[in-house]
Order: sequence, then structure tokens, then C-alpha cells
Amino acid sequence: MSDWLAPDVIASAPGRVNLIGEHIDFSQGFVLPFAIEDRTFARIRKREDREIRIRSAQRPDHLITTSLDHLNPRGDGDWERYVLGVIWALNIQSGVEIEIDGHVPLGAGLSSSAALECAVAFALNELFACGYSRKELALLAQKAENDYVGVPCGIMDQSVSLMAKSGSALLLDCRDLDTRLVPFDLAASGLQLLIIDTQVQHALVDGGYAQRRQSCESVVAKLEIASLRDLSLSALDSAQDQITAEEYKRAHHAVTEIARVLKAVDALTDKDFTTLGQLMSASHHSLRDDYEVSCPELNCAVETAISHGAIGARMVGGGFGGSAIALADQAKIAEIEDAIRVSFASTGFHAPRFFTSLPSDGARIEPLT
Ligand code: GLA
Repeated sequence: MSDWLAPDVIASAPGRVNLIGEHIDFSQGFVLPFAIEDRTFARIRKREDREIRIRSAQRPDHLITTSLDHLNPRGDGDWERYVLGVIWALNIQSGVEIEIDGHVPLGAGLSSSAALECAVAFALNELFACGYSRKELALLAQKAENDYVGVPCGIMDQSVSLMAKSGSALLLDCRDLDTRLVPFDLAASGLQLLIIDTQVQHALVDGGYAQRRQSCESVVAKLEIASLRDLSLSALDSAQDQITAEEYKRAHHAVTEIARVLKAVDALTDKDFTTLGQLMSASHHSLRDDYEVSCPELNCAVETAISHGAIGARMVGGGFGGSAIALADQAKIAEIEDAIRVSFASTGFHAPRFFTSLPSDGARIEPLT
């Protein structure tokens, strides 16, 4: 951390990996993410005027200066819009100096933007004694991203970044943000979750995400239901002539994925990792074929992992790039990494990066150092 300012408060919030439950948070589905160890730190000091100064510890020479009176939803800018969006969503009425120190890999589908929003939201909530609960902060951080930055994301990433607990995956009911911790200790069973960053940059602002979401909303409107959560597979099948073929595929993904999440919770609880792995792979196929948000690099990572002994593998996050995960015996991880490296090189893809992470805690206040 730099000595740019002596902060009044420091908060941190983690990125996430979603075990299963992709592209169903905005359909009021269930999701099962966990927080990773990589975190983003927000160091904040109160000012006596209405100025806002933001900089990143990674680019200390670049100072962004604006004021509370110039907050501009959907305006221009770069990563600082996520910070300004949170100030706007929390309706902060005092100037602040903010230094961001981000350690969640960017564009890797590990939710660096939610980590940024949630670190800032958590710090501001503490500094100005706003009194928001973690659930309320998740909704405010999502509002910042939806209405200030202009990205129509769901509620999963902010929720897990704020509400996760170490040692567990977080079963989140996206209808009411109720949560249940599901113990997630792979090491005790000799297993590991490999995170494979394809290094294909994904950006939710690019439009593919919004189009998918619109298709789901169109099905909800045409079938006059409250959400895809309320749709059974048989009801979807009998309604096929009321929706387009593309809408059918998108809704088919959502309905089957919600069912897979609930089965995955049972499998995890029973330590039935074979079933968990099968559900993960089925989720990938659904995202690839029905939802069409995978890409050649993600498919290559998943297929290579499976053919080298992974129990299950899938793309995670918004898709179109970013990361995949593979569940495997600890003893097989090195072989899987090597095989993916070789497949990527022989296909002419960028070299992938590999991570692993234990399930970690959500946002917290850090000691002032
Ligand atoms: C992104 C969004 C989330 C969620 C996932 C897909 O990470 O921010 O709200 O929709 O994609 O599951």
C-alpha cells in the first residue's frame, strides 16, 4: 500500500468463483458461488469539501478528480465509474479521497468489478455510519453497476463478495437474497478446484450479456410468469409455440441450470463429488449449446481438463472469455495444467494462467496500517 493518504478506513472485498448456477441470478434462480482469496482494498479518507479524488495503487501517477456535484450516471470514464457509482448509490454527501488496491485479476471472469464496488461500499458504510446491512449493500452496489455504469448485471457477484464465509460456498436465493452456507472443503477429500484463466478478456458491457438477459425477460413477458424460476421444463416445452426458437434455448438453459444448482447442493452436502462434477459439466454444455456464451478457449480448457481426468469442468461468470474451473484429484492437477497449456499452444491460443483458491470471507474492515 502506498503512503498517498492516511485513510480513515480501509475495507477489502473478494472476487468470486461460481461453482454452479450461471446466468440465472436475474431470473430469480439459485446460485452457488464462493469468494476467492484475491481481494480489492479501498482506503478512504473523508474530505471537508465536496471533491472526490480517486487513484489506483497500481497507477499512482493517475489521479482522477471530480466532485459530488458532477456525478453523472452512464457518463464517460473508465474503472473509476464503479467507484463513483457506489458513492452515488449510497448518496454520500461528503467529499472523499479513495485509493484502490486491486488484487483480483481483471477481465478474468472472477468479478473484479464487484470486488471493487463492494470494497468501496463497505468502507463508505463504515466511514459514514450509514448502517446498511450486507444484503442492502449488495443491492446498492448492483444499482451502481446497473444504473451508473450501465451494465445490466444480476445480484450474484455483489452478494457473494459481501456475504461469503471462508470454508463454504454460498447458496444464494436470488429471489430474496436468502443465503445458506454449504461447507466446501475439497482438500479433505483429496480434491482441488483449478481455475483456468483463458486470458480472453471478457466485458459485460459488450452486449452479449444484455441480449441473453433480454431473451429471458421476453420469455417471462410472453408466458406471463413472474420469472423463469417459476417455469417447469414441461411448461416450457408446452409453451414452445409462444416463443422463438432462440428464446426457447435461453429459457431451457435457465430452467435446467436452476435444477442443477439444487442437485449440486445435495451432492456437495453428501460429498458426492462424482455427481457434482457431472452437474458442472452439464452446466458447461448448457451454457455452450443453449445459452451460447462460451468460446473456443473455454471449450478447449473444459474438454482438455475432462479428457485428462477432471471430475467435472465448466466456464464461469458472464462468458465470452474469462475463466473456467475444473474439479479434480489433487494428484491430477499438474497433468491437467500441462495438457491445457499444450492444447492452447497447439491451437494458437494465448497461454492460459492457472490459479487455485480456498473459499474465503466476504468484505471486511481491515486494520489501519
Ligand atoms: C456476471 C454478472 C452476474 C451473473 C453472471 C453469470 O458475472 O455480473 O450477475 O449474471 O455474469 O452467471
